Amino acid sequence: MASNKRLLVLPGDGIGPEVMGEVRRVIDWMDRRRSVSFDVAEDLVGGAAIEARGTPITEATVARAMDADAVLFGAVGGPQWDKLGFDMRPELAILTLRRELGLFANLRPAIVFDALVSASTLKPEVVQGLDLMIVRESTGGIYFGEPRGIETMPDGSRRGVNTEVYATHEIERVARVAFELARKRQSRVCSVEKANVMESGLLWRQTVTALQARAYPDVALSHMYADNCAMQLVRNPRQFDVIVTTNLFGDLLSDLASMLTGSLGMLPSATLGGAEAEGRRALYEPIHGSAPDIAGQGVANPLAQMLSFAMLLRYSFGLEADAALIERACADVLGAGLRTPDVMAPGCTRVGTTAMGDAVLRRLDELAA
Ligand code: IPM
Ligand code: MG
Repeated sequence: MASNKRLLVLPGDGIGPEVMGEVRRVIDWMDRRRSVSFDVAEDLVGGAAIEARGTPITEATVARAMDADAVLFGAVGGPQWDKLGFDMRPELAILTLRRELGLFANLRPAIVFDALVSASTLKPEVVQGLDLMIVRESTGGIYFGEPRGIETMPDGSRRGVNTEVYATHEIERVARVAFELARKRQSRVCSVEKANVMESGLLWRQTVTALQARAYPDVALSHMYADNCAMQLVRNPRQFDVIVTTNLFGDLLSDLASMLTGSLGMLPSATLGGAEAEGRRALYEPIHGSAPDIAGQGVANPLAQMLSFAMLLRYSFGLEADAALIERACADVLGAGLRTPDVMAPGCTRVGTTAMGDAVLRRLDELAA
C-alpha cells in the first residue's frame, strides 16, 4: 500500500477511552495481519478537552480532523459538565466536527444480530433479521437554524427560539446518499418529515420526490410523517429499508430504532460529507453515549466502537472484505455466548470490556487463518 491511511482517534469521555482501547487493538491487528496500515493520531475532545484546555474542542483538533482521512470518535459528556452553557458543553465537540467538516449525512443502521434477538424488548418475530438504515441529515435543520437563542421580552418574561430551516441543496445531497445506499440494499427509501404541519417538511417532500423522479427512478420512494414513522418502527420495523429524514427527527427515530435491537452498545454510525469522488470526509462513532454510570469499571461493551471502525473501513476506504471480517468476528463472539452486562442473557458468559476485545481478536485470528 503506497501510503498509510491517516486516522484521527478521539476517545472523549466516560466509556469512550475504554472501548476505543479495544479498537486500537483491532487496528494493530489489521496492521499485522492485513494489507492495510494506519497512522493513528489521538486527541482530546469533550469534557476531557474542557479539563485540559478549557474548551470542548480546539481549532487545532478541528484542523487535524480536516486533515485526516477519517475520524473515529468515542463519546462525550458527563454529569460534571451538565451545567455549562451551550458554548461550553462537551456535546459541542461533535456538533462542531459535523459542522466544520460538513458531515451532512449521518448513517445509523439498526441491525438485529441473531444471537441477540431475545435482547430486544419487542417480540422475536417482529425484530428477527431486522436490518434498516436511517440516514439522518446532520448539519442543518433546527440544530443549526437561525434565529436561535433565549431572549427577554419587554414584560420581563423570556422566550426560547430555534428555527427549522432546510434549503433544497441540503435536502438533495442527503437524499442522494439515501438513494445510493438503497441501491446497494433493497432499493427502497422512505422519506420522513411533517409535511402536514411544517413548510420545511413540505419542501423536503417535494424535493425528494423530484430528485427520485429525475435521478433514481429505479428506487422505490415512499413518504411518511415522523409521528407515524415512530409508530411504524415499533409496530413493524422490517417494512423499512432506508429511512431518510431531518436532523431532529433522525435524532429521535434513530434512538428508537436502536432500541429495537436490544442494545445501544451494539450500534455503530457513520457521518459523511462531501462527494464520494472527492474523497469524502467522514467521522465514525458508536450510537451510545459516554455512559458515565459505568465508566471506569471495565464493563462497557466495545462492539459498537469496533463496528464503527468496520464502517470506517467500508465507507472511507472501500475495504469491504476487512469490514465484513470485523463484523463477522463481532457476531461470532456473541454467537459463542459471550456477553457484556448490557446484553447479558441467561445461559451466556458474562465478560468485561477487555475480555470481549480478547475474544474478538481471537476470532479474527481464526477467521484470517
Ligand atoms: C446524537 C446525540 C447528539 C445529537 C448530541 C450529543 C448533540 O444525541 O448523536 O444523536 O443530538 O445529535
Ligand atoms: Mg441522539
